[in-house]
Amino acid sequence: MSAQLRFGVWALVYGNWASFHHPEDPVDASWERNKRQILEAEQLGYDTTLIAQHVVNPFGEEHDQLDAWTAAAGLAALTERIEIIAAIKPYLYHPVVLAKQALQIEEISGGRFGINLVNAWFKPELERAGIGFAEHDARYAYGTEWLTVVRGLLSGERTTFHGEHFHVDDYLLKPASRTRERPAVYLGGESDPARALAAEQADTWFINGQPQQDVHALIKDVAGRPRTGDPLRYALSAFVIARETEAEAREVLAYQWELAEKGQATWDGLVAKADPKAVMFQTFAKHPHIGTNGGTAAGLVGSYDQVAQRILEFHELGISTLMLQFQPFESEQRRFAHEVIPRFRALSP
Ligand SMILES: Cc1cc2nc3c(=O)[nH]c(=O)nc-3n(C[C@H](O)[C@H](O)[C@H](O)COP(=O)(O)O)c2cc1C
Repeated sequence: MSAQLRFGVWALVYGNWASFHHPEDPVDASWERNKRQILEAEQLGYDTTLIAQHVVNPFGEEHDQLDAWTAAAGLAALTERIEIIAAIKPYLYHPVVLAKQALQIEEISGGRFGINLVNAWFKPELERAGIGFAEHDARYAYGTEWLTVVRGLLSGERTTFHGEHFHVDDYLLKPASRTRERPAVYLGGESDPARALAAEQADTWFINGQPQQDVHALIKDVAGRPRTGDPLRYALSAFVIARETEAEAREVLAYQWELAEKGQATWDGLVAKADPKAVMFQTFAKHPHIGTNGGTAAGLVGSYDQVAQRILEFHELGISTLMLQFQPFESEQRRFAHEVIPRFRALSP
């Protein structure tokens, strides 16, 4: 089991993380709300936050969408302790520009920044911008070159790289991190090339929420792949419904399923715009769930004690960071911090 488990929350970049029809969780992706959410998360003791990246809201372009990178810089300036992770789709930024921005946010945050490489599934966002949407494995070949360049630059190294997509000559970015070797590198993606790239170049691999035996098999697979350097770490996304009793939690889950039915057409519309080869969506179809990225499929639905116990089991499997979603977000983020984290700490002193 790795060191102390870290708890994180997804920033509200879409305006919420489950139903758009919840009466107590209005859809609000504003900067003001995200700022309040993350400042409160920090105060509640959460260790990290993940800011997903989309230029256009995949649930419908008429919806607001928070920009990951400008929000990350803003949050870095306003917070003091919490780690800030911003997702990045390689086709949207040249690696030299992205590395520069990441180092600047590392500087603003005093060494609390991480990037999460995500290789894109939402086709119209890139196609309609004229960037084009390459085939699944070709996107990973591009992403592999992109990350090689970014990692070199993030480390403050003079970087020269000549590949199929990038030609970078003797490039040096200053300032590099003043407190550590470089900002952290996360990667979210489940396909074979995603796993290979995570093992080769990431510090932490993000896993979509799914049952413990599946998470165990995924970790086993990726841990067996070629790697140099420190051991890879593992993070898990999950949607939590925790209550005093299991029966109460099940009732809330049933209500969330009722709400989900109202949003089924919107979800179907999103899936229709996704790359059918994205393995992530195949996993989602296997395990119906509330929330995104696997959500309740991780099984964190139950009494406070049950949820704390299941988290301990994930930690024992090798998960070192949990990235959580709730609905309504802010009040449940509070409840989890007050009721579940202390129970988990008691189980795992
Ligand atoms: C924790 C986590 C966070 C993710 N965040 C984003 C994101 O911000 N934007 C995005 O387009 N995809 C995001 N993804 C999806 C990955 O990019 C996705 O797995 C990939 O597009 C499909 O590749 P795959 O076939 O390797 O799964 C995320 C995935 C995980 C596991």
